[in-house]
Amino acid sequence: MRTALEPWRAESIGLVPTMGALHAGHLSLIAAARAECSTVVMSLFVNPAQFGSSGDLNGYPRDEANDLAVAAEAGVDFVFAPDASEMYPTRFQTWVEVAELGAVLEGAHRPGHFRGVATICLKLFNIVRPDVVYFGQKDAQQVAVLRQLIADLALELELRALPTVRDRDGLALSSRNVRLSPPERTLALTLPRALATRDPESARSLLVEAGLDVDYVEIAPFDPPVLAAAVRVGSTRLIDNVTLEEDS
Ligand code: PAF
Repeated sequence: MRTALEPWRAESIGLVPTMGALHAGHLSLIAAARAECSTVVMSLFVNPAQFGSSGDLNGYPRDEANDLAVAAEAGVDFVFAPDASEMYPTRFQTWVEVAELGAVLEGAHRPGHFRGVATICLKLFNIVRPDVVYFGQKDAQQVAVLRQLIADLALELELRALPTVRDRDGLALSSRNVRLSPPERTLALTLPRALATRDPESARSLLVEAGLDVDYVEIAPFDPPVLAAAVRVGSTRLIDNVTLEEDS
C-alpha cells in the first residue's frame, strides 16, 4: 500500500475506512473524499478486534466483489483489503485504548469495542498515511473517540465527519439493516422517531412502548452534543443519534 501510494504523496490522500457491505452512507464519504483529495483510498477490513461475539462477526454481511465494483464506480483509486492475519499476525500485542470516551455508552455495552476500533484505525492511518480521513456521524462516539486519539497522539491528519444518511423512511443506513425482517424494520423506525423528540425521557418512553429492548438513550457530550441510542430489534442491534445543536 505504501509503495503504491508513494507517487501520489505530493498531493492530498483521503482515506475512507470501511468494513465493506457498502451503502449510500459510505458513498457520501467517498464522494467527499473524491471532491477534496487528489487520491482516494478505501480500506475494506472486517475488524475482528471490534466484535464482541463471534456470532456478530461471522454474521457480518460480506460481498467483497460487489464492494470493489461499487468503490471503483464511485471513484476510489485504491482499495486496501488486508487479511486478518496481516493486520493481526501471531504475537500481535499492542492495543490503543481511549480510556474515558471509549468506556461509556457503546463502550459500556460492548467492552473492548473501541479498543479494537482505535487500534485498527491507528494501524490503517499508519499504513496509508492519509491527509484526511472520512467517517460517518452515525457512529458519533466512534468519531469522538478517533478525534481524541488523533489529538492525544498528535497524528498529522484531519478527521471529517459527514452527516448520517437515512432511508426515505428515516432509518439510518447501516450494513446491519439487511438482517431486519419486514416487521422488524417497521419496529426499527421507532428509533429515528424517538430520537427526533431530542429528549431522552420522551425517546425512552417511545422505544419502550414499542417493545424495543433499549441499551441506552442518553445525551452524549460530544462535539457537537448528540442524543444517542442503542436498541435491539430481534437479534439485530441498531445505533443512531441526532445532533442537538439545532436546538440552541
Ligand atoms: O465504522 C466502521 O466501519 C469501522 O468501525 C471502521 C472505522 C472501519 C474500523 O474498523
